[in-house]
Amino acid sequence: MATTIVQLTDLHLRPRGLPALRVVETNMFATRAVKAVRALSPAPDAVVVTGDVADTGDPREYAVAKELLSALPMPVYVMPGNHDSAREMRTAFADWPGVRDADADSLCYAVDIGDLRLVTLDTSVEGKPYGHLGEAQLAWLDAALGEASDRPTVIALHHPPIATGIAHMDRSRLRDSEALAEIVSAHPQVQRIIAGHVHRVVLAPFAGTEVLILPGVAHQVGLDLEPEAPAQVVLEPRAYGIHSWTGEGLVSHMAYVEAFPGPFPFSPGEGVSWPGQ
Ligand SMILES: [Fe+2]
Ligand SMILES: [Fe+2]
Repeated sequence: MATTIVQLTDLHLRPRGLPALRVVETNMFATRAVKAVRALSPAPDAVVVTGDVADTGDPREYAVAKELLSALPMPVYVMPGNHDSAREMRTAFADWPGVRDADADSLCYAVDIGDLRLVTLDTSVEGKPYGHLGEAQLAWLDAALGEASDRPTVIALHHPPIATGIAHMDRSRLRDSEALAEIVSAHPQVQRIIAGHVHRVVLAPFAGTEVLILPGVAHQVGLDLEPEAPAQVVLEPRAYGIHSWTGEGLVSHMAYVEAFPGPFPFSPGEGVSWPGQ
């Protein structure tokens, strides 16, 4: 039986009735994502939200988040992004799994989910768009990975430790990615690092494993690889991740929130067969 974690990212929730960035009805989109996850069969074992839960860190946004995410019947693990307030999140989610056992100084924690271990990191820096872990959290990570070297592990964080080529997003990537790479490369049980922040799908190698960034459940960042590309959002299809440990490896799917035409059964048509059949 596979162990499956769903990843939702970049909800950017607002106080009830307010859009994000003037145009994005993030609360409505996040509600649709939660509905899509509730409909998954088989149901995932857990959900992890890789930051930017709120849009401004307003306590009213976390009230919306708690109500919305409480509709998920499985454990939900949250971590802050640059749009969050780690302090407000810790208060709002104080009794939620993971957060209640989090490190005193950073909102980082490790939990076992079926055959997998999920390690969440807090890359947020109060008042700054970029990400940073710092020595204390890196030491905590090294110890947390050392405690369970035989368990396949997923590291979840908001700011990716790689450059994507989208210049305005790369300026706010994780600053101490080299120090993170040194630790990750010493713990080969790390199967994947999953991230958000960039609001689109990006895959890149990192420290003997890979970093997978997934789209947001609301708005996306435009794919513009020009060095002076302006920061703009686009309403491309909303998506989330399904990460399954199969016993052979960690298989990651990107799933769309919205429904599309189909499914149509595989068949070439009445009275026709494909070669070899
Ligand atoms: Fe975001
Ligand atoms: Fe972000």
